[in-house]
Amino acid sequence: MPASRHGWSQLELKQLQSLQLSSLPPVTDPGNAYLANDAAAALGKKLFFSSQLSRKGDMSCAHCHQPKYYFTSGKPVDGKRNTPTVVGAVGSTWQFWDGRADSLWSQALFPLEDPTEHALTRLEVVHVVLDYFLDDFKAAFGKTASLVELVEEQSSLPKQASPVNSIENWHRLTKAQRNRINQTYALVGKALAAYQARLMPAVSRFDRYVDAIVEEDYISASQLLSPAEEAGLRLFISDSGRCVRCHSGPMFSSGDFTTTAVPGSHRDEGRLAVIAQLSSNEFNCLSRYADKGEGSCDELIYLKTDGEELRHAFKVPSLRNITLTAPYMHNGSFDHLSEVLDYYNRSPRNGLNHTELEPLYLFPFQLKQLEQFLSSLESGIAPSSVWGLTHSKEKKE
Ligand code: HEC
Ligand code: HEC
Repeated sequence: MPASRHGWSQLELKQLQSLQLSSLPPVTDPGNAYLANDAAAALGKKLFFSSQLSRKGDMSCAHCHQPKYYFTSGKPVDGKRNTPTVVGAVGSTWQFWDGRADSLWSQALFPLEDPTEHALTRLEVVHVVLDYFLDDFKAAFGKTASLVELVEEQSSLPKQASPVNSIENWHRLTKAQRNRINQTYALVGKALAAYQARLMPAVSRFDRYVDAIVEEDYISASQLLSPAEEAGLRLFISDSGRCVRCHSGPMFSSGDFTTTAVPGSHRDEGRLAVIAQLSSNEFNCLSRYADKGEGSCDELIYLKTDGEELRHAFKVPSLRNITLTAPYMHNGSFDHLSEVLDYYNRSPRNGLNHTELEPLYLFPFQLKQLEQFLSSLESGIAPSSVWGLTHSKEKKE
């Protein structure tokens, strides 16, 4: 075997392979037995695009996670946080910028009851399921005992009740009724997760470049990445750029939380503010509504729940298709990738006591190379006849 291929050492080649999409482990979720269930995904897709699942009939998941913007909102941040893509999200242990949900299915239950988003209560969600999605629901989950009873008792249930809204109505229900509602509500999250789990990034030029290098097909390799992009990749993994310290693995994310002190970070406590609630979330991995499938809840059980390094810390985001998802950072503080790279080069503290970054002192042409490399990660969504909703740039006119 040659000591170096196209200038890459064996060690570097291993690192490049660890970043390839093909290194992605199969997606699993011990809490969601329906992740691979096609009928659940079909229901999830309908729910994702349905505005029936909102108080005023004007909101759906897709309203903010728009297919044409790679499932982001494609506009400046109008709330507190930037809308991340849901493509590939199933691969993260923690959902949201602060990781306040420990699974994709429990994540979905937050916006539904958020008064600034879908603004429903869980009982209302159950009413919508019974009124509009009953057949799809039965196809996905069978006639669960909870569902059968809910159908029978629906007319006697109040219209609106949940622990976060209309608490009185919620406590007027029997314990068994509350349990049935929660169970059905959790299944709504599991269907939404099954759909989103099918939205994965497609193989990119970068991935094919690494294949070509492994096969010693250097002609193809040089057609796949330009010299500038290749130089950017070297910076990305080397000590000069140090990006792989955090943007590692096939999704270009370690999945960890870290402080990078982007402008405005001081206004948001990030990971520290939510970490203590994770173990009490009634829909977490250990809850009675989680399935007990293969895998463990170790990440939750062994969670470190305090520490100053969690203050203003945010999840390391994936960089796949990053060219499609401006603006950038948890609060959308940068509109262009060039601004993000300029920021990394300077790595200021912006008034925080702590940042994990150090200035890079790269030349402007090197920042440009890094930016060019990032564009080689653009691939859109993996085409699939059933689930594929390609990004508009992918469409052939
Ligand atoms: C009003 C806009 C809006 C609506 C509606 C909305 N989302 Fe989001 N979504 C966001 C924002 C903003 C975040 C980031 C919030 C945060 O980190 O605190 C987010 C985060 C997420 C994440 C986490 C991704 C990650 O990488 O951490 C997933 C998954 C997701 N949403 C799925 C959904 C689903 C499913 C629905 C429908 C039930 C939905 N969203 C409805 C705006 C929205
Ligand atoms: C210490 C860990 C760390 C290192 C090193 C690091 N990043 Fe990041 N990166 C993060 C975190 C955390 C965020 C999100 C920060 C936030 O939103 O406040 C982020 C965000 C980004 C974003 C915006 C993503 C989005 O969806 O908004 C880009 C682009 C990016 N990083 C590229 C790079 C590049 C290129 C390098 C190397 C020069 C690098 N990062 C080095 C942790 C890191």
